[in-house]
Amino acid sequence: MSAELDVKAQSILRGNDRGGYTVPTAGLYPYQWNWDSAFAAWGFSTFDIDRAWEEVETLFSGQWPNGMVPHILFHKDDPGYFPGPNVWGAEHKGPIPSSGISQPAVAATMIRKIWERDRAAGETRLLELLPKMKAWHKWYMDWRTVDGAVVVTHPWEAGRDNCADWDSAMAMIDPQGVGDYTRRDTGHVDPSMRPTKADYDRYIWLVQRGKRLDWDDAAMAEDRPFAVADPTLTFILLRANRDLAHMAEAMGEDRSEIDGWSKALEGGAETLRNPDSGIFDAINLRSGEHTGHVTSASFLCWYARLDDPRMREELAESFASCRYPIPSLELSSPDFDGMRYWRGPTWAIMNAMIAMGLTDMGYADEAAKLREVTGDLIAEHGFAEYFHPDTGQPAGGGTFTWTAAVWLAWASPNAEGA
Ligand code: DGY
Repeated sequence: MSAELDVKAQSILRGNDRGGYTVPTAGLYPYQWNWDSAFAAWGFSTFDIDRAWEEVETLFSGQWPNGMVPHILFHKDDPGYFPGPNVWGAEHKGPIPSSGISQPAVAATMIRKIWERDRAAGETRLLELLPKMKAWHKWYMDWRTVDGAVVVTHPWEAGRDNCADWDSAMAMIDPQGVGDYTRRDTGHVDPSMRPTKADYDRYIWLVQRGKRLDWDDAAMAEDRPFAVADPTLTFILLRANRDLAHMAEAMGEDRSEIDGWSKALEGGAETLRNPDSGIFDAINLRSGEHTGHVTSASFLCWYARLDDPRMREELAESFASCRYPIPSLELSSPDFDGMRYWRGPTWAIMNAMIAMGLTDMGYADEAAKLREVTGDLIAEHGFAEYFHPDTGQPAGGGTFTWTAAVWLAWASPNAEGA
């Protein structure tokens, strides 16, 4: 059974391969997405290491001169997607038409995993990518940190588009003048599984604002209508810096600047600890308030190698709260919605990163448990984009690249594990 699923997962990656890059899923997401691609590369590395390197090389081929690696690369036009390249208006900013924002910096961590599978095969390719990764992380440090925590300036930047952590910040935006537009996502997927119209108006309003400011980092930073210090971006960049420093050192390069960034982010991560609950959450920087939500991103602390007994208690509660943890929002929250994207569903990629962290910190039992439930979830309910945390009902896009990748690299009983 699991061997058959391995074959199916490989065929999903091959089927979503558009030549040098992989789309997350046909129809709904027809381009190259940044963190999706990093997971795709991890999946490819289990059966085609050359293709794994190619995936991340194509991703970095879209890097802007300022170091930013965009969240979407529009390699070929596709009218089935909105907002496309002309809405973003960033065609002239980098070598490939792209969006104007970035996404969680998962790539360095996955590149380390690919390289460690076969160091000899990857050495030259790693040497080429090192300065590019470093430039990207530096861009994050220069332009997206406040008190050491990484700040989301558009909900799509953290990947968790409609999570509850953004609610108070989204409510402070009045999307005046956004105009008429036609969404494409709800033509591919049931609207009850997608962000609301109120969310979308604000997403597009923020894109229009970025375009007006020509995506200029300094101009955009002057006054941010949406700014949330976020555990996803902060923990993932901190982990990525640690992996990048390790690879740089192994290649004989100086790691001290990168270590300095990790130190700054450690301080920033500390600011995300909610003083009332002791849980890592987000901070709406326009109001200064912690968001108070327990999300799957809270549990990325171990991925960043930050340990915490309070978080382990919370993890035990999360395990006990539903059949297929980790929900993207705790089930006891009044805002929980088990099928709506980042407002409740379980995401296999988040589980993989959480388990990676648990393994690194020596919590083998929890890591094994998470792997087992995620493996069951995918085996029983397919390679969907996300799943209801209690029923396992598949939701969002089907035949999804990163779910297949995470299966191959980690959740399958035949996988090496995280
Ligand atoms: C979308 O279009 O829904 C994406 O999440 C943007 O990255």
